[in-house]
Amino acid sequence: DGELSLSRSMINSSDKIIRKGGSSIFQHAVEGWKINSSLVLEIRKNILRFLDAERDVSVVKSSFKPGDVIHYVLDRRRTLNISQDLHSLLPEVSPMKNRRFKTCAVVGNSGILLDSGCGKEIDSHDFVIRCNLAPVVEFAADVGTKSDFITMNPSVVQRAFGGFRNESDREKFVRRLSMLNDSVLWIPAFMVKGGEKHVEWVNALILKNKLKVRTAYPSLRLIHAVRGYWLTNKVHIKRPSTGLLMYTLATRFCDEIHLYGFWPFPKDLHGKPVKYHYYDDLKYRYFSNASPHRMPLEFKTLYVLHNRGALKLTTGRCV
Ligand code: CTP
Repeated sequence: DGELSLSRSMINSSDKIIRKGGSSIFQHAVEGWKINSSLVLEIRKNILRFLDAERDVSVVKSSFKPGDVIHYVLDRRRTLNISQDLHSLLPEVSPMKNRRFKTCAVVGNSGILLDSGCGKEIDSHDFVIRCNLAPVVEFAADVGTKSDFITMNPSVVQRAFGGFRNESDREKFVRRLSMLNDSVLWIPAFMVKGGEKHVEWVNALILKNKLKVRTAYPSLRLIHAVRGYWLTNKVHIKRPSTGLLMYTLATRFCDEIHLYGFWPFPKDLHGKPVKYHYYDDLKYRYFSNASPHRMPLEFKTLYVLHNRGALKLTTGRCV
C-alpha cells in the first residue's frame, strides 16, 4: 500500500556496508544521490497520520493557564506546575505555522563534522535546525552559523553552562541566546522530571534580558507520535533522539532535507577516531544500557532513507 517499510534485511545490508567500512560504496552513494520527490511526499503523508508538526512542535498559550498541573510525558507519576514565567513564554500560535522551505539542514552533533568544511553548505540551506544549543562560532568553517531552529534539553544548563552557578555562566548563556535573534528555541520541558529548575532559570533569563528568541515547548503527545510512526515502520526506537525527532518534524516543512553531523560511531570509515560531540569531551554512552537512545539503529534507518532519495546524509567532507 505504498507504506514506507524498512525491512530488517534492508537494515542488515546497510549494517554490513557500515561495518565493513566500504568507504567507496558509501562515497558512491553520496555522489549519485538524487531526491525522490514522490517518496518525500509519501513519507510526509504517512507521518501526518501520527502527528502534525505544525501543531505538535509546541504547545500554545491557550492550552494552559498559570498554575495548571501536568504529568510528565515519560514519567506520568510526577507532575509539573505551569509557572507564570513559562506561561508567558508559550507562543500564541505555532512558531512553524505556514512555514515551508525548499531545502533544510538538520545538524546533529557528531564529531564527524570536524574538518568537514561543511559550514558554507549548511548555511546555504533555507532553514537550519540545530540540536542542544551546540556552539557554532568557533566551528563555523565546519558547521556554519545559521540557526533558525535550535533545541535545548534542560540538561544543557548543567552540561554547558555550569548550572548557572556563576554570573559568568549566566552571561555566557545570555550571549548565546542573543546570537539567535528571533530564531526558535525549542525546549523539551515536559519529558521527565529533573530539569524543571533549569527550565525556570532559562525562562527567567529570557524574560529579564528581553531576549527576542522565540521559545517553543513540544506538545505532550509529540514523542509518542514520533515513536509510533517509526514503530509502524518497523524501526524499534524506545526514545527517539533529538536528531531523529528533528528530521521527523522537518518532513512537514521541508521539501529536501539534508542531514549533517549524524555519525554515532567512535571511528570513521577509515578507522580514524570520531568524537561523540564536535564541541565537547562527552563520551559515547549508547553502547551501555544507561543511554535511552538507539542512535546506531536510527543511523541505519536514515542511511536506508538516504539510499532511497528521501533525505541526504552527509558524513564526509563537503566540496
Ligand atoms: N548524533 C549522532 N551522532 C553522534 C552524536 C549525535 O548522530 N555522535 C545526532 C543524534 O541524532 C542526536 C543529535 O545528533 O540526537 C544531537 O546530538 P546530542 O546533542 O548529543 O543529542 P541528544 O539526542 O539530546 O542526546 P543525549 O540525550 O545523549 O544528550
